[in-house]
Amino acid sequence: MVRPLESIDRIGVVGAGTMGNGIAQVCAANGYEVTMRDVEREFVDRGFEAIDDSLDRLVSKDRLSEEEADDARTRITGTTDLTELVDCDLVVEAAVEEMDVKREIFADLDDIIDEDVALATNTSTLSITTIANATDRAARVVGLHFMNPVPVMEGVEVVVGERTDEETTALAHAFAEALGKTTWESDDKPGFVTNRILMPWINEGIRAFDEGVATRDDVDAGMRLGTNVPMGPLELADHIGLDVCLNASRTLYEELGDRYKPAYLLKRKVEAGDLGKKTGRGFYEY
Ligand code: CAA
Repeated sequence: MVRPLESIDRIGVVGAGTMGNGIAQVCAANGYEVTMRDVEREFVDRGFEAIDDSLDRLVSKDRLSEEEADDARTRITGTTDLTELVDCDLVVEAAVEEMDVKREIFADLDDIIDEDVALATNTSTLSITTIANATDRAARVVGLHFMNPVPVMEGVEVVVGERTDEETTALAHAFAEALGKTTWESDDKPGFVTNRILMPWINEGIRAFDEGVATRDDVDAGMRLGTNVPMGPLELADHIGLDVCLNASRTLYEELGDRYKPAYLLKRKVEAGDLGKKTGRGFYEY
């Protein structure tokens, strides 16, 4: 039996980066106690800074009152010690997208956390089944794929691993809904629904620019104005992070072959350290 939604008070979030701090914030804003862990104090502090900025933005837009924002902030505890997640009733992992790292975290969590607690991963392309296999509770391991920026995006993708049981899948949907999100479900196939479709779109946008079909701005304008998406492929790639896009594209390429080959220019930009908004330069300058 997986610990049910009614018994969930404290959420453990592993990783305080863009996704981790967004998840921690949304959990806290919806009344959960949160323990947010990263490997270095500096990363935890940066996570809190991002949460403060985001809460301020929501207050300035009248989406949250000052009091609600303060309450949310005080519900989040930061740590660098994974064992401090010991009393968590649900854990969401949002560490780096590397299988070995995730498997090690899941093996450690499996030792630390009560066995009826569900362990979710925010992985965007890696196999839930392989991650789950690092634990003795594969039935209670599930994908909970939040979208960036987490406080703003409505959707959460629930990813069902080979051995994920129905109760845990139902819990993942119910928990995301308790955070005010709307879910859809994907089988544990490379890229799930979102990145399987999004990454080729982004790579094709990059190729269209690189091969001289149109300027950077016109590739984005063509897709933004022509298909009514909020961001064109190059600005969206910058928003997500070019390293994240390259990683996801490489996983899809390895698993699904040639049609997922990352665009050459994406690789060159990452090699140059131009990772998008987070480094001040990607396809655009910030
Ligand atoms: N925290 C709180 N509020 C935020 C925020 C944050 N981090 N980021 C943006 N906002 C708010 C703004 O305050 C603003 O609020 P109002 O509507 O009340 O004015 C609203 O969101 C829109 O923001 P902006 O006006 O600054 O800018 P925008 O209109 O260009 O919107 C955007 C920004 C929400 C990011 C929008 O461009 C968008 O939806 N882009 C597409 C994002 C997307 O596709 N994300 C998914 C990426 S794929 C992924 O995440 C999965 C993966 O595995 C790679």
